[in-house]
Amino acid sequence: MAGKKKGERDVKQREFIRLALKEDRSFIRTLSGEVFSIFGDYSEIIPRWFVNPDVITVIYVKHRHPVGFAMLYVLSGEILAIAVLPKYQRRGIGSALLNHIECLAYQLGLRRLLLHTATGNTVAHLFFQKAGFTVIGTQENYYPKGQPALIISKGM
Ligand SMILES: CC(C)(COP(=O)(O)OP(=O)(O)OC[C@H]1O[C@@H](n2cnc3c(N)ncnc32)[C@H](O)[C@@H]1OP(=O)(O)O)[C@@H](O)C(=O)NCCC(=O)NCCS
Repeated sequence: MAGKKKGERDVKQREFIRLALKEDRSFIRTLSGEVFSIFGDYSEIIPRWFVNPDVITVIYVKHRHPVGFAMLYVLSGEILAIAVLPKYQRRGIGSALLNHIECLAYQLGLRRLLLHTATGNTVAHLFFQKAGFTVIGTQENYYPKGQPALIISKGM
């Protein structure tokens, strides 16, 4: 019995990244609303991307609960979104998700990743800069609420 209890505890404490399931949709919707709604109605937009068959979504699980996600559009190598629950940020979870997406993209034959991030999103710039992304352009009025975006990219 003692062994089983320890085993159960180990499972509860495990952290891992897995492909998203349809049950993750409400988590994705809520987190997207929390962190992206200043740019537009992303609690509606991102769940629509989630069901696109050309989009791969991965989930970071901690203690059996999703705490972050990342989305890749496989046709262009664009990272559509990456987000971590605010209380779990700055613990390496975003980096683990990004690394996972990079590995998946590479396995799919992609050799360059691309993404848009708001010019005012300093945390995202620092995050992607540390991961080796560089700015390759800008786009005015990119977001539904009108903010401009930086286009950033990384070769693999
Ligand atoms: C961007 C985001 C996904 C980063 O996730 P995270 O789990 O906090 O990131 P990590 O802990 O892996 O950080 C990696 C590095 O990014 C940089 N970074 C991350 N958060 C930072 C912050 N608040 N201030 C300064 N640098 C930061 C640091 O260089 C950090 O390395 P360090 O902790 O060794 O100094 C997270 O902040 C988030 O969900 N933001 C809201 C959504 C968003 O803006 N997404 C990006 C646009 S799609």
